[in-house]
Amino acid sequence: MNDTRIPLAGVIGSPVAHSRSPLVHGHWLRTYGIAGHYVPLHVEPGQLEEVVRSLPKMGFVGANITIPHKEQIMEIADQVTDRATLIGAANTLIFRPDGSILADNTDGYGFITNLHQAAPDWDPATGPAVVFGAGGASRAVIASLLEAGVPEILLSNRTRERADQFRSEFGSRIQVVDWVQVGNVIEQAALLVNTTSLGMVGKPRLRVPLDGLRSSTVVTDLVYTPLKTDMLQWAEDIGCTTVDGLGMLLHQAVPGFERWFGKRPEVDAATREAALA
Ligand code: ATR
Repeated sequence: MNDTRIPLAGVIGSPVAHSRSPLVHGHWLRTYGIAGHYVPLHVEPGQLEEVVRSLPKMGFVGANITIPHKEQIMEIADQVTDRATLIGAANTLIFRPDGSILADNTDGYGFITNLHQAAPDWDPATGPAVVFGAGGASRAVIASLLEAGVPEILLSNRTRERADQFRSEFGSRIQVVDWVQVGNVIEQAALLVNTTSLGMVGKPRLRVPLDGLRSSTVVTDLVYTPLKTDMLQWAEDIGCTTVDGLGMLLHQAVPGFERWFGKRPEVDAATREAALA
């Protein structure tokens, strides 16, 4: 019997109303004329397993996973990709025809693909990356930078123990720098990445002194509200190539869309516009 059901996908989180994923996937579905739907699903942690197990029976082919479920979903999935295991969290689920659930993490892919697209002259091998923050988002960034061949990562976090933990997990290419000292190593950066929430609307400002920044450094911020953070403005003013955080959000959505709906979508100006609507 042919399955003629329209494929469904969605984003599972709590809260989820602010998520831009429905705008992005909805834009791609319309652009490519695909009969499918992508919906926000507000799910509390206690209901996660029950909801996820019931979705394939309702015609869902997959889902994105966001706060606060990205770690818990690892226990529920039947299979977890190597990159999700390395990062310790998943953001993308594939519901297979046999009923099993595969959990993947596309954040690192999204980060590095966006960086290559937005800063095509950046060569990972040219020098160290300075990374602010050692939280969940940072794990994906660090894993992808190491895989891309960055020789050294100077990692700094307010809570130093979290950065030390990264060094023990990811190895000696990570050098931990005290949060209050990080201004002193900025001049070494071929790439500078902010993975903290500092600079986001409603959060404190990023107060790291950036005086040592060189104009040859590529500077990127995972924060995308606002699109142009103070850090990116500073970097732009001295002539650096800057990369905002929206591109990572868009690129991390690509592998899921392709698996669920059978079309590899383009990340272009129209996609950015759709995400900001
Ligand atoms: P995410 O998954 O978005 O990375 P997270 O795991 O809570 O969220 O990590 C948030 C990051 O922002 C951490 O690096 C955090 O530093 P701590 O590990 O010391 O908490 C950083 N961060 C948040 N608020 C901060 C602040 N006021 N000053 C410095 N760093 C801050």
